[in-house]
This record gives sequence, C-alpha cells and structure tokens, in this order.
Amino acid sequence: MLAKLSLICLILGTGDAQFFGSRSPLPSLTKTANKLTNAATNLPKTGINSLLSFNPLKLAEEALDNSWSTFQGSFDKTYKTAEEAILRKENFIENIGKIENFNKIYSSGKYSFVQQINKFADMLHHEFNSILNGFGRFHAPRVPIQKSSSFIPSANVHIPDNIDWNEKGAVTPVKSQGLCGGCYAFSAAGAIEGHTYRKTGVLTELSPQNLIDCTDPYGNEGCVGGLMDPAFQYVKDNTGINSLVNYPYEAKNDTCRYKVQNPDAETTGFVTIPEGDENALKIAVATLGPVSAAIDASQDTFQFYSSGVYFDEKCKNETMYMNHAILVVGYGVEQDGKEYWLVKNSYGPEWGIGGFFKLARNANNHCGIANIASFPLV
Ligand SMILES: *[C@@H]1O[C@H](CO)[C@@H](O)[C@H](O)[C@H]1NC(C)=O
Ligand SMILES: *[C@@H]1O[C@H](CO)[C@@H](O)[C@H](O)[C@H]1NC(C)=O
Repeated sequence: MLAKLSLICLILGTGDAQFFGSRSPLPSLTKTANKLTNAATNLPKTGINSLLSFNPLKLAEEALDNSWSTFQGSFDKTYKTAEEAILRKENFIENIGKIENFNKIYSSGKYSFVQQINKFADMLHHEFNSILNGFGRFHAPRVPIQKSSSFIPSANVHIPDNIDWNEKGAVTPVKSQGLCGGCYAFSAAGAIEGHTYRKTGVLTELSPQNLIDCTDPYGNEGCVGGLMDPAFQYVKDNTGINSLVNYPYEAKNDTCRYKVQNPDAETTGFVTIPEGDENALKIAVATLGPVSAAIDASQDTFQFYSSGVYFDEKCKNETMYMNHAILVVGYGVEQDGKEYWLVKNSYGPEWGIGGFFKLARNANNHCGIANIASFPLV
C-alpha cells in the first residue's frame, strides 16, 4: 500500500542517453518550418512565444535556428555535448508541432486550457514523465508510522464559492524542484507554511531540503521521491523544521543537517481527507488552509500547460496512478461556469500560471486530486 502511494517527481535530467532510444526520426526541415510558422501564428504571444513570431514567408532553417537560440537563451539552456544539443533541438521541433496542434484544437473549443512553449520544450514526453513523475519508490520505514487523524468536515458553516489563500497571505513564492524529485517535500513544506501562517500570522518559507535529507527513516527516498504524511510526522517527531533561509535548497540528496537551534515551524500531527471526496477537500481548503495532495500528472498535456482549467479525459483518478505531489491553495468557478481547483506546483514560476494551475473540480475527482489529500496540525 505504501509503495502504491509513492510520489516522485524528478525534473529535467539532461544527457541521459536512454531517453533518446525510441524517439521518432527528425521530420524534414521544411515541413518543420511550416509547422513552426503555424505554431507561431497560433500560440499566445507572450514570453518566449512572442519571440517565435516571424515572417511566415521566410520559412526555413534560419527561422528554426533563431527560435532554437531564443529558447536556449530564454531558459539558460546548456548541454554537455554537441550530440545532446542536436537531440534537444529535435525534441524542441517536435514539441512545437505538438503544441501547435493542441492549440489549434483548443481554438475549435474542444479544450478548456492552452499550451505554451516552456523550459520543458527540449524534453520528449516519455522523458519528462519518467523523470518528473516517476513512481513506486518508497521503502519500508524504520520508525513506526503514525496513524493520521480523520477529517471531519465542518458542519453548520457557509462554504464560499471561491477561495484563494494567495490573497490571504498564506502562500509563499513558487519554487522549482530543479534536478530533484522532491515534489512531496515542496507540497509538505507549503502546507506547513500555510497552516503555521494561520496560527501565527507570520509567513515563513520552510525548507524542502530539510525534508528531503531527513525523512529517509520514514520511508522517503530523498530526491527519488516520497510522501507528505511521513514528512509531517518527521517534523512532529523532530520538534521542528528549518526555514528555507536556515536550510537552503540544493536539488540533490544530502546528509540531514537539521539545525536544532532554529525550529522555524512545528507540527503536532496530520489529518487525512476521506479518499476521493472533493466536497471534503473543498471544506478543508475553505475553512483551514492549503492542503497537500497528489495527482496523475502523467499525460503529455500537462508538460506544456499554460493557462485555463486543466482537463484531460485520459487523466486517471484511481489512487494507484497518483505520481506528482502538489498543494491545493484554493478553488473557484470560471466565468463560463467551469469549476476548478487552484493548485501550486513546484516546476518554477515560468510553468503554467506563474507556477500555478487550475484543475477541473467536481469532474469525477479529476486526476485523483482528492485521493491522497492531507494537511498538518500545527
Ligand atoms: C537519494 O537518497 C535515497 C535514499 O534516501 C536513495 O534511495 C537514492 O538512490 C538517492 N539518490 C541519489 C541520486 O543518490
Ligand atoms: C473516477 O471517475 C469515474 C468517472 O469517470 C467515476 O465513476 C469514479 O467514481 C471515479 N473514481 C474515483 C476513485 O474517484
């Protein structure tokens, strides 16, 4: 059961030859340049995508090369070898085609969200998915794992239609996992930040690295992956977690270096939302604060999500498919009536809506958002 719940979410390994094994051949440059032109015409004209607009008549390698250089410059991309650079460029060209096709279908009204070129545009989907959203690596804990408390939804209270904990000052800036699969640590730290803020009125950025380095006895696997509840329990048993300032992020495994003189926040336990219950999740988010949760992030539509309400009919809602940890910081309803969860991700602020995304809400527990949801007691 524990293995079933493992969440890993590595980011952006470069140069791993195995990921190039099954890629399709490079499409002809002219065909690609055509695609690129269409992509540039159809994409939202912001950021990197605005730089892709070029004279449609001047198709060709030059334009492709320019786009590729712009992409590399925009996201500080450097590659270890010339071979890798060539393969990354091929991925980039392929992804531009995919994004173009997606946004074309979007404009026909089929999708509720758009895609955009982002820093993952040099990764193939199967690479992105296996690195960012690995699965099933959680070992037997060496300490007794505490049972969570049950969430009892508040009765006799009015639950608002919209909540955004950003607006209430309970959410710290979006972080980037970098080359490490520590999504669970970012999710857990974010929930402790929010609940500590509700308790003290002070918002302090807490240390995911502290959780990555120190929760191995609880079954987590550092930069390979882990779960939020053992992280909450560690903070309780340890009587503290350091702040980000006191224990900075390294994006790699390291030894546990908790500084006992700086307990910047504490937990006293954790509470689990009934599995799959979106209404209970809504009440918890409305009445208590941000809630840690997991989703199936394995669909290729997630890689280039830009804005709108994420909904992919292929997204799985069964617990065994959950492979990425995130933080639910609110919910609401779009003007067209679409209900959504407002979710903080840890792919950096340049992904999605400033690092956040909206996920379809009350759509049969879409992507399993309510399956593994919990929050710390502080
Ligand atoms: C990181 O540490 C975990 C154990 O906490 C281990 O399973 C994993 O292999 C390590 N990863 C690396 C890259 O050393
Ligand atoms: C998953 O979605 C289906 C409908 O597509 C629904 O019947 C089922 O109850 C959902 N399962 C979970 C675990 O939420």
